[in-house]
Amino acid sequence: MRPVAPADLIADGLEDLVVRLGRTPGTDPEALALARRLSTLASGLDGYLRESTSPESADLEALAAATRDHQWDGHLEAEMLSGHVEGQFLAFLTRATGARRVLELGLFTGYSALAIAEALPADGRLVACELDEGVAAMARGLLDRSPAGERIAIEIGPAAETLARLGGGGAPFDLVFIDADKAGYVDYLEAVLGGGLLAEGGVICVDNTLMQGEPWTGEPRTVNGEAITRFNAVVAADDRLRQVVLPLRDGLTLIQRV
Ligand SMILES: C[S@@+](CC[C@H](N)C(=O)[O-])C[C@H]1O[C@@H](n2cnc3c(N)ncnc32)[C@H](O)[C@@H]1O
Repeated sequence: MRPVAPADLIADGLEDLVVRLGRTPGTDPEALALARRLSTLASGLDGYLRESTSPESADLEALAAATRDHQWDGHLEAEMLSGHVEGQFLAFLTRATGARRVLELGLFTGYSALAIAEALPADGRLVACELDEGVAAMARGLLDRSPAGERIAIEIGPAAETLARLGGGGAPFDLVFIDADKAGYVDYLEAVLGGGLLAEGGVICVDNTLMQGEPWTGEPRTVNGEAITRFNAVVAADDRLRQVVLPLRDGLTLIQRV
């Protein structure tokens, strides 16, 4: 799998550095030993996080395997799936906040939706927005293999339209997970806050807010890197909100109204 998080990029880079230093005649042995230590430190992190975190359910494991085995082409790829540790974090957050109604923007094959749904009470409900009809159909098929899948309703279409439709009507959401197109994040946040979609004390959780380090490395940014840099600045400047950025996978921001 292609590295998609700052920690994975650091681990890959250090592994490469060790090989290059090892091949370079006259390398300072202490520099090589330091590079090896740092490489071991970085490359072991992911596995250690997985082995120390509650295991994923058999249904989540099967969904992740089906996603990995699928032949992806075009704009969707297996790396989009959040995975074991992030999934268990979302499940933990669902239980800890006592969330009963959850909104997800960006379903993909359904991994994060199922991780959350497994943690919901029996009458809990998750509404998942997905633009791509094909992947939504694949997700439905995979989710239907799990008892918790029946708590998940899929809304196909642009998330902005679904948010507009949901806004103002019915009970607001206790937890909102934003993980769709990064260019839409600022508008999605505003639509959730301004559209009455967040329950009092509710939590918004936003994925990929470290965007592979693009906000701070000074290297040329991708379109997604620009979008996330702007999103983080907008959130930091909004005094209606309190937030914390966690370096979990590619970055996860938790936001609440003050
Ligand atoms: C990173 S993936 C979501 C991963 C998923 N949450 C998980 O953890 O497995 C992003 C998804 O957002 C969808 N998406 C992109 N733009 C969208 C939009 N405007 N409205 C709704 N979904 C969108 C993509 O088709 C893709 O399936």
